[in-house]
Amino acid sequence: MSITITPTSATLGAIVTDVNLSALDDAQWPTIEDAFHQYGLLIFPGQHLDGQAQIAFARRFGDLEILVEDMTSIPVSNKDEEGELLEDDSFRMQLLMGNEGWHTDSSYVHLAAKASVLSAHVVPKQGGETEWADPRAAYDALDEATRKRIADLAAYHSYFYSQAKIGHKVAVGEAYGFFEGEPPLRPLIKVHPVTGRPALYIGRHAGQIPGFDLPESEKLLDELMTFICQPPRTFMHRWTPGDVAVWDNRCLLHRARPYDHREEREMIHTRIKGEVASETSLNG
Ligand code: OGA
Ligand code: MN
Repeated sequence: MSITITPTSATLGAIVTDVNLSALDDAQWPTIEDAFHQYGLLIFPGQHLDGQAQIAFARRFGDLEILVEDMTSIPVSNKDEEGELLEDDSFRMQLLMGNEGWHTDSSYVHLAAKASVLSAHVVPKQGGETEWADPRAAYDALDEATRKRIADLAAYHSYFYSQAKIGHKVAVGEAYGFFEGEPPLRPLIKVHPVTGRPALYIGRHAGQIPGFDLPESEKLLDELMTFICQPPRTFMHRWTPGDVAVWDNRCLLHRARPYDHREEREMIHTRIKGEVASETSLNG
């Protein structure tokens, strides 16, 4: 049986069926990798990967980031180790609520991420979807004057900045050592290392553009974000347990959608490292 790839009606994303990711063979890999480059986001319904199979699938894309305490896969879950629901003001819930702002993974560390794999295990009855946006298509649609204006600009990507902006405390970032030294400085336009396609590369961690004062910088970045994150450049997935998604952090933005935190939501996240040559910050 050959793999079926069904593009969404947005400018990004495809649904991939007729494939078993737990038993992916080498002959099938180029089809998936090509689709990943073309669509940026692939959703594989009903895979029910176990922990090892998720890691093996993620490893196809490259080396994995160590996220916390030697773990390559981490639960993105609103329960603690005892299975108790987290309080909204808890340290971990603050991290999760940060995910509700448009972002790209690990842009706040000097080597940004290449891709992320996310699988659904327990989902709330309502809300808790994930949504992606397409900064490649946004760049294509930008007017020439704006393209020129931003061509040589860069912004600092700081986790301290993004969490502080939503009222969360310094401690969140400090605990992970995210801002020892200067935060990474990244060009506003990123050229994809494989496809050569330019994309806006910003998101909630991007705040200060050198040479601009902060309000001026935030105004420009907000305008660009609003332009990116509108139809047909967004796609939302309503999860069913067993679904798996992989997306390209080099050219897409994503966010979690809100839900009632008294309900359980449990996802598993595995993150693939960027390449040193293409994902290192300007000052890294
Ligand atoms: C992430 C993330 C979104 C979600 O895992 O990096 O942003 O919907 N998740 O949980
Ligand atoms: Mn994320």
